[in-house]
Amino acid sequence: MVLIRYVRVLRHRWWMIVMCPIVAALVAGVVSLLQAPVYESHVSLYVRLAQPLTSSDPTATALTSDQILHTYASLVTERPLLESVISELGLKISPESLANEIKVTPVPNTTKLDVAVDDTNPTLARDAANRLVADLITEVKQIEQQETQLPNARSGDNLIVVSPAITPTGSISPNIPRNVGIAFVLGLMTALGVAFLLDYLDQSVKSDDEILTRLGLVTIGHIAYAPTPKGKRAELIALDTQSPASEAYRALRTSLMFSTIDHELRTIVVTSAAPDEGKTRTAANLAVVLAEAGHKTVLVDADFRRPSQHKVFGRIRNVGFSNLILQDVPESEAIGAVEKVPNLWLITSGPIPPNPSELLGSGRVKELIARLRGAFTYVIFDTPPVNAVTDAAILAAGANGTILVVEQGRTTFPALRHAKQLLDRVGAPTIGVVMNKVRASAGSYAYEYGYYGTRAEVSAVPDPRPLSEPEPRVPSVRG
Ligand SMILES: Nc1ncnc2c1ncn2[C@@H]1O[C@H](COP(=O)(O)OP(=O)(O)OP(=O)(O)O)[C@@H](O)[C@H]1O
Ligand SMILES: [Mg+2]
Repeated sequence: MVLIRYVRVLRHRWWMIVMCPIVAALVAGVVSLLQAPVYESHVSLYVRLAQPLTSSDPTATALTSDQILHTYASLVTERPLLESVISELGLKISPESLANEIKVTPVPNTTKLDVAVDDTNPTLARDAANRLVADLITEVKQIEQQETQLPNARSGDNLIVVSPAITPTGSISPNIPRNVGIAFVLGLMTALGVAFLLDYLDQSVKSDDEILTRLGLVTIGHIAYAPTPKGKRAELIALDTQSPASEAYRALRTSLMFSTIDHELRTIVVTSAAPDEGKTRTAANLAVVLAEAGHKTVLVDADFRRPSQHKVFGRIRNVGFSNLILQDVPESEAIGAVEKVPNLWLITSGPIPPNPSELLGSGRVKELIARLRGAFTYVIFDTPPVNAVTDAAILAAGANGTILVVEQGRTTFPALRHAKQLLDRVGAPTIGVVMNKVRASAGSYAYEYGYYGTRAEVSAVPDPRPLSEPEPRVPSVRG
């Protein structure tokens, strides 16, 4: 499970994980190229240590070679020495800047010092290194002369230039391959860190496992993201029986059938936590595949807030559900057969009533639903979002089951949890979740399962009746 989650995060944010190190490496490369190359020139200095002079002071302790080497090393960056080098070479830098360009390192297990000077000018680096060492030797000699006068002095150290500085041919920095490599690795690590952090902070629903483990809800269908052509609400994608979308809705139908082995499932409410998650499309296509399987099905647009089934089926909603509730029109006017899909009838919302929640909670709706149940095998209700208004919960309380549509990557867990709580509170049995708008990069394992898992079923579905067949009679729903 953990591995699947990692794979999902990598697939979901692959662009970031790929782009970040590439951009970091490119920036590091460009910055390195723009930097002036720095050259380093070395002088190797051998310090031949002398014995201390005989001392009249018995408390005097001999200096170690290490101490002596470090003393000479520190003399190199003393201000007077630096000032004399600057004036001899006519440099236009401060002693501090020159000190920053100098590195004096005792060579381990020897009495040698490595004096290095860095500069963007290789000739200057060479001259400064040689000058610096020459001035150091002179200064040491002067100090030794003064020291011989002292009672416990040591003298006679010889500073010998083993190899003078030469003009460096190659620069020591910038090291472009190393900088690019480091930037790439850092960019990759940052991208991975950010990807997993975003995933951790992301509250949106992405996988079936999370829904099951966090909310105890089973996912009964996966519908791929399939945008409709612009300016056209070609929402009835299940009509194309060869399309993967159609297979996905058939898989949903199969899941529904299996989920109802123990109890009757005739009235189904389709709702979701928030707007635009795909309730209308799911309800419409589910109704289509149920009808295609030979079940007498009626789709009821019970969304009085944003009714839209009439648009999906190319109808007008002047007469519909609200009229049936108020019993002010004959049923044959309000229940229209869907010509393209045998066994399917549609009840549009009808005129929007001023008080949808009160109307849906009325005894008349209960009677009407009971009559619809008697006349049809399946009654599918398209409803408004359950978290926004109580309409869906009211209908769900009297229905056999509720399907919660979830938009993958958008519906959040807090919203879905709230929706489930609202349904639980009214005792509405939730059948499961339909994961809608599943994108391949956002958890395709779920989608692929839904897609391939339905292959066997395709052949089992009877072909829809030819469009030329006469329009079926509206079943009587009068009590
Ligand atoms: N699987 C899908 N792939 C691509 N687009 C989809 C999918 N399902 C729904 N849509 C689109 O999302 C939008 C909202 O869909 P739909 O009207 O079905 O949602 P809804 O939950 O009923 O919205 P409302 O809350 O307004 O009733 C529509 O433009 C629809 O075409
Ligand atoms: Mg809708």
